[in-house]
Amino acid sequence: MQYSQKVIEHFTNPHNVGEIENADGVGEAGNDKCGDIMKMYLKIENNIIKDVKFKTFGCASAIATSSIATDLIKGKSVEDAVKLTNKAVIDALDGLPAIKVHCSVLAEEAVKAALADYYKRQGIDPAPLLESFE
Ligand code: FES
Repeated sequence: MQYSQKVIEHFTNPHNVGEIENADGVGEAGNDKCGDIMKMYLKIENNIIKDVKFKTFGCASAIATSSIATDLIKGKSVEDAVKLTNKAVIDALDGLPAIKVHCSVLAEEAVKAALADYYKRQGIDPAPLLESFE
Protein backbone atom coordinates (compact mmCIF):
# COMPACT_ATOMS: atom_id res chain seq x y z
CA MET A 1 0.00 0.00 0.00
CA GLN A 2 1.40 3.35 -1.07
CA TYR A 3 0.60 6.49 0.94
CA SER A 4 1.11 9.96 -0.49
CA GLN A 5 3.55 12.33 1.17
CA LYS A 6 0.58 14.44 2.31
CA VAL A 7 -1.02 11.49 4.11
CA ILE A 8 2.24 10.75 5.88
CA GLU A 9 2.66 14.41 6.84
CA HIS A 10 -0.87 14.74 8.24
CA PHE A 11 -0.59 11.44 10.09
CA THR A 12 2.75 12.28 11.70
CA ASN A 13 1.88 15.92 12.38
CA PRO A 14 -1.90 16.23 12.42
CA HIS A 15 -3.45 19.71 12.48
CA ASN A 16 -6.20 20.80 14.90
CA VAL A 17 -6.09 17.85 17.28
CA GLY A 18 -8.06 18.19 20.49
CA GLU A 19 -11.39 19.34 21.83
CA ILE A 20 -13.18 22.69 21.95
CA GLU A 21 -14.87 23.58 25.20
CA ASN A 22 -18.37 24.97 24.74
CA ALA A 23 -18.29 24.03 21.07
CA ASP A 24 -21.19 25.22 18.92
CA GLY A 25 -21.43 21.86 17.19
CA VAL A 26 -20.09 18.41 18.01
CA GLY A 27 -20.36 15.39 15.76
CA GLU A 28 -19.17 11.83 15.70
CA ALA A 29 -18.84 9.24 12.99
CA GLY A 30 -17.81 5.64 13.21
CA ASN A 31 -17.30 2.66 11.00
CA ASP A 32 -18.60 -0.67 12.29
CA LYS A 33 -16.21 -2.77 10.25
CA CYS A 34 -12.92 -1.25 11.34
CA GLY A 35 -14.17 0.20 14.63
CA ASP A 36 -12.60 3.60 14.00
CA ILE A 37 -14.28 6.66 15.52
CA MET A 38 -13.92 10.36 14.69
CA LYS A 39 -15.19 13.26 16.72
CA MET A 40 -15.33 16.88 15.45
CA TYR A 41 -15.82 20.07 17.45
CA LEU A 42 -16.79 23.37 15.82
CA LYS A 43 -16.63 26.95 17.05
CA ILE A 44 -18.86 29.06 14.85
CA GLU A 45 -19.21 32.84 14.92
CA ASN A 46 -21.29 34.87 12.49
CA ASN A 47 -21.76 31.79 10.35
CA ILE A 48 -18.00 31.27 9.98
CA ILE A 49 -16.09 28.28 11.28
CA LYS A 50 -13.68 30.08 13.56
CA ASP A 51 -12.14 26.95 14.99
CA VAL A 52 -12.33 23.22 14.53
CA LYS A 53 -10.69 20.40 16.42
CA PHE A 54 -10.86 16.64 16.16
CA LYS A 55 -10.20 13.50 18.12
CA THR A 56 -9.82 10.33 16.13
CA PHE A 57 -9.38 6.82 17.42
CA GLY A 58 -8.43 5.17 14.21
CA CYS A 59 -6.00 4.24 11.52
CA ALA A 60 -3.33 6.45 9.97
CA SER A 61 -5.63 7.42 7.09
CA ALA A 62 -8.44 8.30 9.51
CA ILE A 63 -6.07 10.65 11.35
CA ALA A 64 -4.82 12.17 8.08
CA THR A 65 -8.33 12.63 6.66
CA SER A 66 -9.54 14.23 9.93
CA SER A 67 -6.59 16.60 9.90
CA ILE A 68 -7.03 17.71 6.29
CA ALA A 69 -10.82 18.00 6.72
CA THR A 70 -10.30 20.48 9.56
CA ASP A 71 -7.91 22.48 7.36
CA LEU A 72 -10.44 22.48 4.52
CA ILE A 73 -13.34 23.88 6.58
CA LYS A 74 -11.54 26.25 8.95
CA GLY A 75 -12.41 29.86 8.09
CA LYS A 76 -15.19 28.78 5.73
CA SER A 77 -18.86 29.63 6.02
CA VAL A 78 -21.22 26.98 7.34
CA GLU A 79 -22.77 26.70 3.86
CA ASP A 80 -19.39 26.01 2.28
CA ALA A 81 -18.37 23.53 4.98
CA VAL A 82 -21.54 21.53 4.40
CA LYS A 83 -20.37 20.92 0.85
CA LEU A 84 -17.24 19.09 1.97
CA THR A 85 -17.05 15.72 0.24
CA ASN A 86 -14.85 12.75 0.88
CA LYS A 87 -13.54 13.25 -2.66
CA ALA A 88 -12.31 16.73 -1.75
CA VAL A 89 -10.60 15.19 1.28
CA ILE A 90 -8.91 12.55 -0.88
CA ASP A 91 -7.84 15.12 -3.48
CA ALA A 92 -6.35 17.39 -0.80
CA LEU A 93 -4.30 14.42 0.41
CA ASP A 94 -3.09 13.66 -3.13
CA GLY A 95 -5.00 10.38 -3.07
CA LEU A 96 -5.68 7.45 -0.77
CA PRO A 97 -5.26 3.71 -1.41
CA ALA A 98 -8.62 2.20 -2.50
CA ILE A 99 -8.91 0.15 0.68
CA LYS A 100 -8.67 3.38 2.69
CA VAL A 101 -11.33 5.40 0.89
CA HIS A 102 -13.85 4.71 3.66
CA CYS A 103 -11.60 6.63 6.09
CA SER A 104 -12.27 9.79 4.05
CA VAL A 105 -16.02 9.07 4.20
CA LEU A 106 -15.71 9.07 7.97
CA ALA A 107 -14.17 12.56 7.84
CA GLU A 108 -17.02 13.87 5.69
CA GLU A 109 -19.59 12.29 7.98
CA ALA A 110 -17.99 13.62 11.17
CA VAL A 111 -17.89 17.18 9.78
CA LYS A 112 -21.51 16.93 8.66
CA ALA A 113 -22.61 15.44 11.97
CA ALA A 114 -21.02 18.40 13.78
CA LEU A 115 -22.71 20.84 11.40
CA ALA A 116 -26.03 19.03 11.87
CA ASP A 117 -25.61 19.43 15.62
CA TYR A 118 -24.92 23.13 15.09
CA TYR A 119 -28.07 23.50 12.98
CA LYS A 120 -30.16 21.69 15.59
CA ARG A 121 -28.91 24.04 18.29
CA GLN A 122 -30.01 26.95 16.08
CA GLY A 123 -33.47 25.40 15.82
CA ILE A 124 -32.94 24.51 12.15
CA ASP A 125 -33.94 21.08 10.89
CA PRO A 126 -30.71 19.41 9.72
CA ALA A 127 -32.56 16.62 7.87
CA PRO A 128 -31.87 17.95 4.34
CA LEU A 129 -28.22 18.17 5.29
CA LEU A 130 -28.16 14.69 6.79
CA GLU A 131 -29.77 13.20 3.70
CA SER A 132 -26.77 14.18 1.66
CA PHE A 133 -24.59 11.56 3.31
CA GLU A 134 -27.00 8.86 4.39
FE1 FES B 1 -11.47 2.42 9.09
FE2 FES B 1 -9.37 3.86 8.47
S1 FES B 1 -9.48 1.69 8.60
S2 FES B 1 -11.27 4.55 9.18
